[in-house]
Amino acid sequence: MLAVFVFLSVLVVVSGSGVCPCERPELCQPIRGEREYEVFVFDVGGKEWQSYNWTVVTTVAAFGKYDAELMCHAHSKGARLVLKGDVPISSIVDQANRTAWITKQVNLAKSQFMDGINIDVEQAVDKGSPEYFALTDLVKETTEAFHREIPGSQVSFDVAWSPNCIDKRCYDYVSIAEHCDLLFVMSYDEQSQITGDCIAMANAPLNQTLKAYDDYLALKIDYKKVVMGVPWYGYDYPCINLSQEGVCYIPKVPFRGAPCSDAAGKQKSYKWIIKQLNSSSSGRMWDDSQQAPYFYYKDQDGQTHQVWYDDPQSICAKANSVMGKGLRGIGMWNGNILDYSDDPVARQQTTRMWNALFGC
Ligand SMILES: *[C@@H]1O[C@H](CO)[C@@H](O)[C@H](O)[C@H]1NC(C)=O
Ligand SMILES: *[C@@H]1O[C@H](CO)[C@@H](O)[C@H](O)[C@H]1NC(C)=O
Ligand SMILES: *[C@@H]1O[C@H](CO)[C@@H](O)[C@H](O)[C@H]1NC(C)=O
Ligand SMILES: *[C@@H]1O[C@H](CO)[C@@H](O)[C@H](O)[C@H]1NC(C)=O
Ligand SMILES: *[C@@H]1O[C@H](CO)[C@@H](O)[C@H](O)[C@H]1NC(C)=O
Repeated sequence: MLAVFVFLSVLVVVSGSGVCPCERPELCQPIRGEREYEVFVFDVGGKEWQSYNWTVVTTVAAFGKYDAELMCHAHSKGARLVLKGDVPISSIVDQANRTAWITKQVNLAKSQFMDGINIDVEQAVDKGSPEYFALTDLVKETTEAFHREIPGSQVSFDVAWSPNCIDKRCYDYVSIAEHCDLLFVMSYDEQSQITGDCIAMANAPLNQTLKAYDDYLALKIDYKKVVMGVPWYGYDYPCINLSQEGVCYIPKVPFRGAPCSDAAGKQKSYKWIIKQLNSSSSGRMWDDSQQAPYFYYKDQDGQTHQVWYDDPQSICAKANSVMGKGLRGIGMWNGNILDYSDDPVARQQTTRMWNALFGC
């Protein structure tokens, strides 16, 4: 009886919180050390993680509800589980508020036996504004606090597909990269600000995607901190009209100063896309200039849709570039949205999507 009591109180002191929920207490220890190739998975909740390829996963960012089972499993595979961090930037210009926010995140991570935080503030910020400097300070102070309080922990920051004030996110990318452990480049939603014709295009055209990495690296951002984010989803656009050449005109939906945007379409999971492709009128087509697949289908009202997405072939070319440039690794939004069912065709597709992360 006494022995049990002593044992429990030691646990409480060590973790600063509750009792370890894992089968083996050592699974509540934070992950230390690095693996050569980072595979950074966003998880939005649910149990699909049970079907992930855990041989390759290095970090899971928990954007769904906290799942202790996921934490124990990730740790058993040597993978990190990190918090999602988001806060209105205007509220952390104030130093006391900023410190309070950071303390809260560190305590939350500790109490849940987690290994860091992924900062995902996708807010508009003007260059040189108080928010601009506060955001950099937030990253710096968050990294210091996490590294101090949770040895081996990882602080990552999500950036737009290009450093050129995309979606009015004019951040201090150089300082942010310097102060965190890794930069997750969201190489998707690249049609969020369409300035030319209002037409449907690929979510992440290859050349445009790769050019933006040159832009990041030209800022002298350490390439060993850069993780390429690829989409496991696409866009379903209703066409107002369709030209003979297959150009799909889309409704004008403005976004952050641009007259048109991908908000005219709907984001669709790869799981949905593969099902829909099966009943499409065109079958899978390939766009040579954007190096991306697409197809057409007609909805119940007879309207034609053009669907743009990424598949093993388009992702493979991006992963080749990650390896060629020697970046830190790759990741995706998001891990949950493949078809993890037992259907043999789905199974094969899902395996190919995971394998594409390593190029071809
Ligand atoms: C998981 O990934 C590894 C490394 O790419 C691969 O060898 C293995 O076959 C994959 N496992 C499954 C179940 O696809
Ligand atoms: C501090 O943060 C809270 C929200 O957490 C916000 O309502 C308040 O305005 C902030 N104070 C300052 C001075 O920014
Ligand atoms: C399709 O719609 C666009 C925008 O409304 C218009 O500029 C274009 O001429 C139309 N094309 C065809 C083939 O009708
Ligand atoms: C596509 O259709 C074929 C034949 O109807 C079926 O065997 C296959 O499982 C379907 N694939 C998906 C992903 O729905
Ligand atoms: C992509 O960029 C390369 C190198 O700049 C260029 O040679 C090629 O023509 C471009 N491809 C397309 C399809 O735009």
